[in-house]
Amino acid sequence: MRMVDLIEKKRNDHSLSESEIRYIIEHYVKKEIPDYQMSAFLMAVYFRGMSKEEIFFLTKAMAESGEQMDLSSIPGIKVDKHSTGGVGDKTTLILGPMTAALGLPVAKMSGRGLGHTGGTIDKLESIPGFSTRLSPEVFLDHVKKIQIALAGQSATLALADKMIYALRDVTATVDSMPLIASSIMSKKIASGADAIVLDVKVGSGAFMQTMESARELAEEMVELGHQAGRTTIAVLSDMNQPLGMTVGNLLEVIEAVETLQGRGPRDLRELCLELGAWMLYAGGLVMEPEDGKEKLREVLDNGAAYKKFLEFVAMQGGDTSLIEQEGGLKELLCPEMCQTFYAEESGYIRKMDAFEIGKASLALGAGRETKESPIDPLAGIRLLKKVGDPVEKGEALAILYARDEAHCLEGISRIRQAYAYSPAPVETEPLIKKIITIPS
Ligand code: URA
Repeated sequence: MRMVDLIEKKRNDHSLSESEIRYIIEHYVKKEIPDYQMSAFLMAVYFRGMSKEEIFFLTKAMAESGEQMDLSSIPGIKVDKHSTGGVGDKTTLILGPMTAALGLPVAKMSGRGLGHTGGTIDKLESIPGFSTRLSPEVFLDHVKKIQIALAGQSATLALADKMIYALRDVTATVDSMPLIASSIMSKKIASGADAIVLDVKVGSGAFMQTMESARELAEEMVELGHQAGRTTIAVLSDMNQPLGMTVGNLLEVIEAVETLQGRGPRDLRELCLELGAWMLYAGGLVMEPEDGKEKLREVLDNGAAYKKFLEFVAMQGGDTSLIEQEGGLKELLCPEMCQTFYAEESGYIRKMDAFEIGKASLALGAGRETKESPIDPLAGIRLLKKVGDPVEKGEALAILYARDEAHCLEGISRIRQAYAYSPAPVETEPLIKKIITIPS
């Protein structure tokens, strides 16, 4: 087999066989196929697409290209949850302890943030002492002892995806549905969970900006999961405005703690109840998702989920005294580094563009421009209003935190572009847009 022939075949819109796709992946990982040929192949896929069969072969080959987690020593059905990436999305920090408190084993691997969206690992590492560098043995041991562990993705998990993703990033081939679906699902399959709940974000702050493209991606991923023998459920949720009232690492942990204590913002709580209910359902702990919501409300409101969070933080080296002290983690935020952003018109908030707010957070220092950029755990945005809220000109809309005034001013100039106003009341989008439980 020759790579040039396979590129030509795809370029001419023919389907590749399983052995041809496996050849490409195996030889690329061994560095026997150079980046320039892989780039040409990715661009051919970008323009020609892939059949459902080809997407499955690609997913499987990438899942098997590196380390594969074996969770079989943990009793029970292991359910993983994955978000396609959003702004202010701190659901994993809440869902893990919530479902673990109800007996679901949570063995989760997460990534760091890149671009305008944040990553769970960066958020957790804003808790002083917290470590996500766990060996596989320690990781499994924690889940057996306290039902929950969260680690950074191992360097070789779905190795081909890691190498290909880096190439896609610099060859304008990220936003291709077959490549996104296979990239996400190869990592989920290699992570070893028996069931997967996907939070597919739709809107300005998401990869998929339209309902149609999000549904197509969700259906594809549900089908891939089922083909790989994993129960897979997708929840499509709104990402036109940020989730909750905070964006930024420590700020999001603070909000997650408040939610675990039963006092979080309405939209964040609603999404956590929805995703958590499907996780409990997929894990066989409830017969109906509605029963799951009831149980989850109970652990949020009776303190059991918060208690599990403290146990989890302590187990991974985090300083829980900072969470439990009077004032909580808010004490770590430094007030002299903040600026307030004020409404520029009176009326109702019509738009709070999640992408622009994500970019503002990046400008403040909360995110990474490249994989190597350092992040400021204290930087971020506290939102005071959401879409549909009435406002008066000059009223505070958001507080921005950064390490210095220059970063704050940069954030203010960026966030201004996110807002639009309406003189008349505004209809708000439903948060949960669709649930997909079976392959189409
Ligand atoms: N997230 C991934 O893991 N891969 C993609 O291709 C896009 C989002």
